[in-house]
Amino acid sequence: MKVETLRWANNKLEMIDQRVLPATFNYLAYDSAASVAEGIRSMVVRGAPAIGVAAAYGVALEALRLSVLLPPVRGKVGMGVETVNTSTPSLTLPLHGGGDGVVDFNSGMEAGFTVLAQSRPTAVNLFWALERMRRVWQGIATQSPGEIAARLLAEAHEMLVEDIRINRAMGAHGAALLQDGARVLTHCNAGALATAGWGTALGVIRSAVEAGKKISLIADETRPFLQGARLTAWEMVQENIPVTLITDNMAGHLMAHGEVDAVVVGTDRVASNGDVANKIGTYMVAVLARRHNIPFYVACPLSTIDMSIASGKDIPIEERAADEVKGFRDTHWAAAGVSIRNPAFDVTPAELVTGLITEKGVVMQPDLNKLRALMGMA
Ligand code: MRU
Repeated sequence: MKVETLRWANNKLEMIDQRVLPATFNYLAYDSAASVAEGIRSMVVRGAPAIGVAAAYGVALEALRLSVLLPPVRGKVGMGVETVNTSTPSLTLPLHGGGDGVVDFNSGMEAGFTVLAQSRPTAVNLFWALERMRRVWQGIATQSPGEIAARLLAEAHEMLVEDIRINRAMGAHGAALLQDGARVLTHCNAGALATAGWGTALGVIRSAVEAGKKISLIADETRPFLQGARLTAWEMVQENIPVTLITDNMAGHLMAHGEVDAVVVGTDRVASNGDVANKIGTYMVAVLARRHNIPFYVACPLSTIDMSIASGKDIPIEERAADEVKGFRDTHWAAAGVSIRNPAFDVTPAELVTGLITEKGVVMQPDLNKLRALMGMA
């Protein structure tokens, strides 16, 4: 089964509800910037590249909504697809009734950009995508809202297709690094569900398998949101790629017993010096990998590299709700009254990174000079 994490259907963005996988496979439909922002914030869609593509559609949807080409439709749409209502008051702008239509459109678009930018802070792909959409808009700002909306929608479609192409290219470069028979550990979900399709870290696994290598995956469960247990394991099981689930605290034991040949993870933001932000717990895995002489690779599209920041210290780390640590969904096991921390990401220093796998090739031991060259800034 091909996983379509995001798709355009019935003039809306539909996204798999990743909060309820693997028990329930369900699409939710989105018709505005505010509703897409809420989908990102609440983790219906997650994973850096997928968040970027979703945000691009959010901008296009807002332009469509404001241009009144596509007035929002509420309620149930088709089987298993529920439309998420827009309820952000700041976006309820007067579209008719004597106002200046252009001003209304422009200020509505700005509000759309703002609400999307506030949805999650760490993955730079979100801001990269918004910037790209803004440039497209600015390039045609004198055209009619309908024309602008159509062009923005075409750009979002292009970004979706491009993301899969990039993941395929990264997959091919990364697959060459893995020996036939390799046992690869991954953390979180950097798969088709975290992208428009194929995946970054799991794209490497898929490409290696497609090239005929026998690869088996070890998936950290990834507390507290369980992206490994729920999403990575599900993706691999769907495709009969051998996968073994472990709890996060078992990785060191397996490494010490010679059961891990390589680590491949994704990333939410790479700083210009090569420091890597990824799902909380990744840093621990990287330290363990170095201790056991296991290569630690990071699959990273260029859109995830943030050359504007000097190091990982500048990466904003999202702190999520305490409830996620107290238990899971309605079950709480933590002692009532205990104080809780829930940073959702950590930073692995560049010195622990064996190589960055990008669509342009693998950058071994990334540093500022190598990343400047990679990004065409040298
Ligand atoms: O909180 P999440 O699930 O959005 O975190 C996702 C990750 O940390 C992924 O590893 C990262 O985005 C890379 S996805 C290709």
